[in-house]
Amino acid sequence: MPRPPHRPGSPSRSAAPRPAADVAGLPARRLAGEVFAAVTEQRQALDDTLDRILASPPGRALEDRDRGLVRAIATTAVRRFGTIRRVLLDRMTSGLPDEGGPLPQVLATAVAQLLFMDVPDHAAVDLAIRLLLEDKHGQRYTKLANGVLRRVGRERDAILAALDPLALDTPAWLRRRWTAAYGEDAARRLAAAHMSEAALDLTFKTPDIRDRRAAELGGLVLPTGSLRLADRAPLPSLPGYQEGDWWVQDAAAALPARLLGVGAGDKVADLCAAPGGKTAQLAAAGAAVTAVDRSAARLERLKTNMARLGLSVEVEAVDATAMAGDGLYDAVLLDAPCSATGTLRRHPDVAWTKDDQDVFRLAALQTRLLAKAVDLVRVGGRVVYCTCSLEPEEGEAQIRGLLARDDRVERRPVDPSEIGGLEGAITAEGDLRTLPFMLPDADPRFSGLDGFFAARLVRVR
Ligand SMILES: C[S@@+](CC[C@H](N)C(=O)[O-])C[C@H]1O[C@@H](n2cnc3c(N)ncnc32)[C@H](O)[C@@H]1O
Repeated sequence: MPRPPHRPGSPSRSAAPRPAADVAGLPARRLAGEVFAAVTEQRQALDDTLDRILASPPGRALEDRDRGLVRAIATTAVRRFGTIRRVLLDRMTSGLPDEGGPLPQVLATAVAQLLFMDVPDHAAVDLAIRLLLEDKHGQRYTKLANGVLRRVGRERDAILAALDPLALDTPAWLRRRWTAAYGEDAARRLAAAHMSEAALDLTFKTPDIRDRRAAELGGLVLPTGSLRLADRAPLPSLPGYQEGDWWVQDAAAALPARLLGVGAGDKVADLCAAPGGKTAQLAAAGAAVTAVDRSAARLERLKTNMARLGLSVEVEAVDATAMAGDGLYDAVLLDAPCSATGTLRRHPDVAWTKDDQDVFRLAALQTRLLAKAVDLVRVGGRVVYCTCSLEPEEGEAQIRGLLARDDRVERRPVDPSEIGGLEGAITAEGDLRTLPFMLPDADPRFSGLDGFFAARLVRVR
């Protein structure tokens, strides 16, 4: 986009009268543009913005198909924000007018449709022009928009042949970090993996239930134990949902709780628990779980989830860093708050709404939470620390720092057999480090997993 990201100010659309009846597909494009602007100009979270806009009028009145379209257009435009910005800049030699009203969001979402979605060119262009006509600022730029968008359509093949997700769709702060941490080749593969949507992975209460349900649900049982579905249906309509047999959890996110190795009767604290994916795993293994989270609202979601799954856990709404006591638990899981850069396939907005400062701020909190996790576990007990971040400060460096300053803990390396043989996901020190391009499949819908770090420690004194 010619307009730089992160610019404050609201997406302005107003003033010109709106037509009495919208043509088909127009409201979905209008709302997708609003969502895109909220993310790229105001750094709002994509999912929260979509939920808000689709829950209030006029989004609430949309048919399911159009709701899906809002989501798809906005997500694609955010995922491909860098490419779209470059494509527009290259074709608008004098840049974008300052007073263009909704022009930036209309152009960006139209280019997303032209390049990356199965939308006929004439529909994408015509609806974009209609949106501009609705706005007193935008209507001056219909000729410009028409020319630029038609040119993008004509030049589509050449544009798609020159895509470069690392150079264009990965902002500089992440490009720099990943190249330094993993090397340029891996950084390229990370960036490429982020251009695809994540599959839908399910975790089952037990392997037996999974094997019983797998045929009905279809999909693929992964070596790590999750069931991966290629097609997304509304969750409540899927077999086993009402019965509480499974929950949605990325294949990588399902690994850390397993590394804790808890069983019946173990007293376990899950320190950053909501909405409860890992709590459910621990409870399903028979542990007596205390689910701690500082967000009471998120704990309500955890309670709802546990109720559907028929699992019983204790819940404590507190800041874990303020918990008192020494050696109270047999095991502690710390799934710490983090920058979430390992989840860009499902949350592409994270790349554009966060920055280095978020990593530094969260790393400091993670250090304090980790010290608390060690206090709370008994001598001989285990701690698993994990984050869904690709940033070493939130993973490897946390454990290196802890082991250097706290002689109460030692590392217990992860064995490939504990994670479905994913040898490449174990670091030289024996920690778990998944990267989104791992677990490849010939069918791209079945490929990849979130970027996660996990380390297992034992308290020795
Ligand atoms: C990565 S999410 C946890 C996801 C969860 N473990 C799961 O598997 O579904 C991090 C959680 O940490 C919580 N949190 C952040 N700071 C906290 C603190 N100081 N004490 C307790 N919980 C905290 C957040 O509210 C958030 O729910």
